[in-house]
This record gives sequence, C-alpha cells and structure tokens, in this order.
Amino acid sequence: MGWMSQWLFSSVGRKWVMAVTGLFLCTFLVVHLSGNLLTLIPDEGKTFNAFAHFMSHNWIIRFLEVVLFSGFLLHIIQGLVLMVRNRKSRPVRYAVHAAAPSVSWSSLNMGLLGTLLLVFLVVHVGDFFVESRFTPEKLGTDAQGYVNLYAEVVHSFSSLPYTLFYVLAMVALGFHLWHGFQSAFRSLGLMHSRYTPAVIWTGKVYTVVITAGFLFIPLYWYFMQL
Ligand code: HEM
Repeated sequence: MGWMSQWLFSSVGRKWVMAVTGLFLCTFLVVHLSGNLLTLIPDEGKTFNAFAHFMSHNWIIRFLEVVLFSGFLLHIIQGLVLMVRNRKSRPVRYAVHAAAPSVSWSSLNMGLLGTLLLVFLVVHVGDFFVESRFTPEKLGTDAQGYVNLYAEVVHSFSSLPYTLFYVLAMVALGFHLWHGFQSAFRSLGLMHSRYTPAVIWTGKVYTVVITAGFLFIPLYWYFMQL
C-alpha cells in the first residue's frame, strides 16, 4: 500500500485523482440533471417525488451515494491542495494572459470556480439533501405518501436571491466544465492528436447541455411563480 499512497500524493497522482474524480462527477451531473428535469412534468410532482423516493430507498443507490461523497471529498481536497501549491509556485499573478490564446480564463481560474461550487454545494446539500433525509417531516408528503421534495424545489425558486445564487453557481459550473472536461482527458494522457478534436467537441457539447439544463430549471420555476 506504501507505493500506492506515495503515488497518489505525488504530483502525477494528484492530477490523476483530479481527472478521475472530475469525470466521475461529470457522469453524476447527467443523472442529477435527468432527475431534476422531472420537476417539469405537469403532474404536481408525482413522478419527481416517486423518483426521489426510489433514489433515497434503493440500496444500490445508497451505496453509490457513499462513492459519490468520497469522489467529491477527494476532488475538493486535491483541488484545494493544487490551488495552494499553484499560488505558492506563482506568487506574482501574471499581468498579461493575452500572449497565450490557448490559455482560457476558465483554465486559469479552476480554483476560484471550484471554491464557488463548494460554497454552493454546502448550501445546496444543506437545503435539499439534509432536509429530505434527516427531517422529512418538515417537508410533508404528497398524495402518494412520498416526501414532497417537489414542493420544496418549487418553493425555493420563488425567492429571487436564492434563484440568483443558484444561477450564478451554475454559470461557475459551466466555466469549470468548459475547461475541466478536456483537461481531465489531457491529465489521463488520453489526448491522442487523432481524437483531440472529438474530445474537445464532446466536452463543449456536454458543458452547454448540462449548464443550460441546470440553468433552465430555476429560471422556469422563478418566472412561473411571478
Ligand atoms: C459537480 C462538481 C464538479 C465537477 C463535475 C468537476 C469537474 C472537474 C474536472 C473534470 C476537472 C478537470 C480535472 C483535470 O484537469 O484533470 C476539474 C478540475 C478542478 N476542480 Fe473540479 N469539479 C467539480 C467541483 C469542484 C469543487 C467543489 C472544487 C472545489 C475546490 C473543484 C476544484 C477543482 C480544481 C482546483 C481543479 C483544477 C485542478 C488542476 O489545476 O489541475 N471542483 N474539476
């Protein structure tokens, strides 16, 4: 095990952990967005609440949840370590980035974007996950007897400050993914010149679809309740 922890804490190992956990989190976002889109079905939340009930009671999903939390934790810890190290090795911020057009704003600000996402995650998990799991009685139940998470979602997006906070976080997510998706393939050494354009385009399409989806839901519910 010694060589493994040594490798995981080496700079190559750290990059590898960031890439694998980052791509894993990208797959989680697809499942999460698909679930959230169910709030748009005009059935008073029946399908969404049934889906949320299934997700919180299925043992396979519960196990995957532990994997997901571990993935987030590793990604966040390694991300913060990389951020501090990068700052230490580059104490003076570059004054001009224009000389290297391939260096995007997102790639230079992954730490800042990640930190914004971390703040959002703490609020978001506290709001929806902790309440629905630990104090479900506060949310009440729907006609099927399931915890009425749908009503909580719709109610949350009746608030302008909350909706704006959510929208800002999703914009940060979009920038994080814009650079992150292709960067992960680079870190894993999977960027063969033949496949590079395909990876870059897949990353861009993925980022636009995921970000647009996560932006649409809060805006839809906010404007529906004006
Ligand atoms: C759903 C949430 C998230 C997703 C899908 C995601 C995804 C990714 C991906 C794919 C990468 C590229 C990895 C690489 O370059 O090999 C990355 C990098 C990074 N992420 Fe995240 N991330 C998320 C949340 C966060 C959070 C909460 C933080 C908090 C600190 C964070 C901090 C970072 C940092 C600092 C990097 C750049 C590491 C480097 O310099 O190589 N991420 N992320």
